[in-house]
Amino acid sequence: MFTDNGQTFGFGKPATEAEIAGWDIAIQPDGTGLPPGSGTVKEGEALFARLGAKCHGAKGEGTASAPALVGGAGTLNTDKPLKTVGSYWPYATTLYDFIHRAMPADRPQSLQPSEVYALCAYLLHLNGIVPEDAVMDAQTLPKVIMPNHAGFTSPDPRPDVFDTLDVTLPATATS
Ligand code: HEM
Repeated sequence: MFTDNGQTFGFGKPATEAEIAGWDIAIQPDGTGLPPGSGTVKEGEALFARLGAKCHGAKGEGTASAPALVGGAGTLNTDKPLKTVGSYWPYATTLYDFIHRAMPADRPQSLQPSEVYALCAYLLHLNGIVPEDAVMDAQTLPKVIMPNHAGFTSPDPRPDVFDTLDVTLPATATS
């Protein structure tokens, strides 16, 4: 593999187009990157019963081995915030990204696009965000408004978080 001064170490090879494509699976919050395909709540229910319930519970309520995917609405500003897909996630498109790349945890990246859309439809329906007859695809999923979509601020206003591009260190950092 070459370094920036042209030196080689005699091992490694350039990544192939196919390898790069395999990594290039990010879905943007606005839905950019979503593939063709579609899925219904009913299809998602059957898939989840077969592939997800064993870890997340029959209705996504969570178990000792995997987090709850449903519930927690209105709990974020209480002593016991329950952060789930329904109560915490700002974008429904991220649900597609996460399920496609990481779930089922015992067989990541084994699902087809229509299966991922169906699971998105089912989990969003279980959280009361889309109706039972919803169909998720590259047009409808980005249009879903998540309950906590306004719960995030950008840029991050916290004093100890500063823009990496324009690094002006807080006074204390230099002493
Ligand atoms: C169709 C099947 C499945 C779906 C749709 C699914 C969906 C999800 C989602 C949306 C999350 C993120 C939860 C969050 O951060 O709020 C998650 C996390 C997780 N799931 Fe699944 N899951 C599935 C199957 C499984 C299976 C079979 C297992 C166990 C083998 C599993 C284990 C986990 C674990 C351990 C996490 C936490 C990961 C972490 O925090 O990094 N899931 N799953």
